[in-house]
Amino acid sequence: MATLNTDHLWMPFTANRQFKSKPRLMVSAKGMHFQTDDGRQILDGTAGLWCVNAGHCHPKITEAINEQARTLDYAPLFQMGHPKVFEAATALAKMAPEGMNRVFFCNDGSEAVDSALKIALSYHQVRGNPLRTRLVGRERGYHGVGFGGIAVGGIAGNRKQFGPTLANVDHLRHPLDIARNAYSRGLPEHGAEMADEFEQRMLALHDPSTIAALIIEPLQGSTGVILPPKGYLQKMRAICDKYGILMIFDEVITGFGRLGTPFAADYFGVVPDMIICAKGLTNAAIPMGAVIVRQDIHDTFMSAAPEGAIEFAHGYTYSGHPVASAAALATLKVYQDEQLFDRAAGLSQYFEDAAHSLKGLPYVKDIRNLGLVCGIELDSVPGKPSARAFDVFLKCFWEQGVLIRTTGDIIALSPPLIIDKAQIDQLFGAIANVLKKQSATLAVESSPAMSPS
Ligand SMILES: Cc1ncc(COP(=O)(O)O)c(C=O)c1O
Repeated sequence: MATLNTDHLWMPFTANRQFKSKPRLMVSAKGMHFQTDDGRQILDGTAGLWCVNAGHCHPKITEAINEQARTLDYAPLFQMGHPKVFEAATALAKMAPEGMNRVFFCNDGSEAVDSALKIALSYHQVRGNPLRTRLVGRERGYHGVGFGGIAVGGIAGNRKQFGPTLANVDHLRHPLDIARNAYSRGLPEHGAEMADEFEQRMLALHDPSTIAALIIEPLQGSTGVILPPKGYLQKMRAICDKYGILMIFDEVITGFGRLGTPFAADYFGVVPDMIICAKGLTNAAIPMGAVIVRQDIHDTFMSAAPEGAIEFAHGYTYSGHPVASAAALATLKVYQDEQLFDRAAGLSQYFEDAAHSLKGLPYVKDIRNLGLVCGIELDSVPGKPSARAFDVFLKCFWEQGVLIRTTGDIIALSPPLIIDKAQIDQLFGAIANVLKKQSATLAVESSPAMSPS
């Protein structure tokens, strides 16, 4: 390949200068693998960015995209429509928990977060509760990079440079507690009582009648796989119910089989009022996000507005884009036809055992897992947070032919649901090889702190 000019691209959530000094370039992908520009096969241990759940370049999805692009490349969804978007909404509603059957489409997780927050705020206004304007998120929550998302999100690095975002926001503690729950297999035993703080401290401080919504990732992925302790989400649901607070699950990474069920809501048996999804919705072959809403919330908007009026002043040029809609329809069908969620559920014990086989290796201080998600937390190099995990990432890529993801000093794994047992062995084996050999000298001296997604 002729020398690539990398100067003009400003890369997202990337150490640009470090990357450009030795680019890591993928040129094609199929199933569980990427191919690099130097012809190497790279096992995808992260489903891209938690998104290619059905494996890369799935022929049915690719074909649906091609066909749609040839037939109807674009049609507006403001005061107009096209069949595929209604079909996609119907298919998504069918997959969602009962009663959650109204769908608002957008283009990615960040837009879905902002859309859900706007629905929550507007819902209370429409119902005549103008005081309910406060949104509650959690520390280390990641809800994308829109101004709404960074406000309810809990990552300092994503917020500090942007000044005041949404004013009326507060945050709960995250439930990671390595001291009590280290090496938990599945859900941690300890920490459900942290949910009580929502009622005992935050609601006591603000008054429940001022809280519009609680937004949480059922499993916090991007900031290093933080699992909800047993009973924690159930308690949160009960508190929201008690005080009329909307509960929003951000399922951008947990949606579409990551835990072996369509949504984490199904896995936990906790039904929120809204589900935010994106990524796996189209198998990431083309961008799309959505908010799945309880029917009565949607109906409240419909009945409050005068006949002929626009009920909710929100939307995007590409909401329900025909090509994305076709991709979503094809993807949801692939998940069902190939029973990929059951496949993930069936593999989760093997995945868990493989993950925990790394216990005792140098620098490993915690391993936590659920479904096909695993976090491996490493001891940081003193004074160089995140450098150790980033070094493992680089060595996995260059020396082991495996793509992993790191955030801070945590390795986060989330392979496509089509992974097989030999590939699970390869993935954890590669990390083990690197950890065993890791010396005091790291490949790069520093790396970005928490780099989400
Ligand atoms: C839980 C969660 N919410 C929102 C987002 C943002 O999604 P996007 O990058 O598509 O805007 C992400 C991305 O990783 C996520 O993990």
